[in-house]
Amino acid sequence: MALFPLRLFLGITFIYAGIQKLSDPGFLHPGAPTYIGTQLEGFANGTPGGFILRAFAIPHPGVAGVGVAITEILIGLLVTVGLFTRIAAAGGMCLNFLLFLTASWNTSPYFLGPDLVFSFAWLPFVLAGATGQPALDNLVENPPEGLVRRTRLTPMTGGEVAESSPASTRRVLLAELAGVALAIAGISTLVKGNYSPSRTLTANTSSAGTGSGGGPAAGAGKPGADAGAHTSKLPKGAVKLGPGSRLPREQAATYSDPASGEPDIVIRDSQGNLTAFSAVCTHAGCTVGFQGGVIVCPCHGGEYNAETGEVIAGPPPAPLAPKKVMEAGGQIYAVPS
Ligand code: FES
Repeated sequence: MALFPLRLFLGITFIYAGIQKLSDPGFLHPGAPTYIGTQLEGFANGTPGGFILRAFAIPHPGVAGVGVAITEILIGLLVTVGLFTRIAAAGGMCLNFLLFLTASWNTSPYFLGPDLVFSFAWLPFVLAGATGQPALDNLVENPPEGLVRRTRLTPMTGGEVAESSPASTRRVLLAELAGVALAIAGISTLVKGNYSPSRTLTANTSSAGTGSGGGPAAGAGKPGADAGAHTSKLPKGAVKLGPGSRLPREQAATYSDPASGEPDIVIRDSQGNLTAFSAVCTHAGCTVGFQGGVIVCPCHGGEYNAETGEVIAGPPPAPLAPKKVMEAGGQIYAVPS
């Protein structure tokens, strides 16, 4: 009974994890920071379990993502009610161990990654099931005296009927729970909001401004504020990214850093100001995106403040490095720093 709260926690967390994936408007939307294909690419990059993702998941990211979400919901339901507990716990353990070998592999120190902890949390239920706890497994095997037993009557030849075996009762319950899992998955998918795509600006080195003089630093630009400014005032090495009109307020775009070639992200806030940061997550190097007003990392749920780059949630150990951008003559420029 001491492990009963842990079993409920694991079951409910898995149900929530499945719902959270399917209700995320960007989960199945290519180009979204939380797109499952982007996550899988990040998980497979330089990790020991990457070959499994490349073989089975990356070729069909949508199927893999939805399949994992429904599997999580089903495992969560089974573990919560205590049906086929050992098998469901083994499934949960395998899933978390695969995530440890991929999604959490580059987490340092290792104990900041949750998947290894989850893998070991499943172990007692793989070894002992829900023995001694409130669980359908136990009710099916040993219905308590005095209680109305949930039994199924199976027709037999000659008009006889026989009580169904515990195994067949479990199969009926499993089918019912699978139906509940699909219903939860369907509702989660229906309630998800619309995804607003972020944009990509392409650095155009042939149009780079090379004049001298100090331009406004990151955060100083406003749409159209510098329209008409002469490009001769651009700082040395400034690289044109594209028209400012392509980046509306409360939208973001990614571009290649003119100095390092690494991805950067530029965000226009609700006032029209531009801020830019490295788009390389400080946790394990995944490329971040912009969603719901914050910078989000698809790999382990890291979140950064879109104005300062400070970490506001998740495992990233440090803020995003600030980058310089400016707007002049209706164009956005990246300024090497
Ligand atoms: S790489 Fe782990 S949160 Fe970004």
